[in-house]
Amino acid sequence: MDRTFVMIKPDGVQRGLVGEIVSRLESKGLKLIAARFEILSEKRINEQYREHLKKPFFPSLKKYIMGGPCFLMVWEGRDVVSIVRKVIGATNPQEASPGTIRGDFGNDIGRNVIHASDSHESAAHEIAIHFKPAELFPYTRIDESVIYEY
Ligand code: RTP
Ligand code: MG
Repeated sequence: MDRTFVMIKPDGVQRGLVGEIVSRLESKGLKLIAARFEILSEKRINEQYREHLKKPFFPSLKKYIMGGPCFLMVWEGRDVVSIVRKVIGATNPQEASPGTIRGDFGNDIGRNVIHASDSHESAAHEIAIHFKPAELFPYTRIDESVIYEY
């Protein structure tokens, strides 16, 4: 099983989309193994978005993410990193396909509702930034034997 870090951004929380988003990922067959509601510190935003620190949009990205509570999660599943990236859709909601989270709920690239790790390396890095090992709770889903062929 692989793991990925997913975060509902402040606009998603404020618009009441937490339940809808968790439901979509659960219905897909992915397993929620950690969750926390939190306003992120500047330090952790800098670590989370370290590849964007020098980008022109970084100050507004930081202000956006610090602007309210986020809902932080770790999800587990086979190929979960690429699956969740497909479920959330393209970075710019105007280019995200209908049926994706950003395609269905987003309008503006600077208010795109949700974050998910883009590789196994960034997933490992982001999970370690936001969660202690003791905060992850692996378990067996009762429907696992019918979700996967092997
Ligand atoms: P995320 O990291 O939040 O999951 O988004 P992503 O991988 O799809 O996109 P990324 O390139 O990592 O960008 C991180 C976030 O920065 C904001 N952004 N604004 N104004 C702009 O041109 C611009 N570009 C990126 C978005 O909130 C994006 O999700
Ligand atoms: Mg990214």
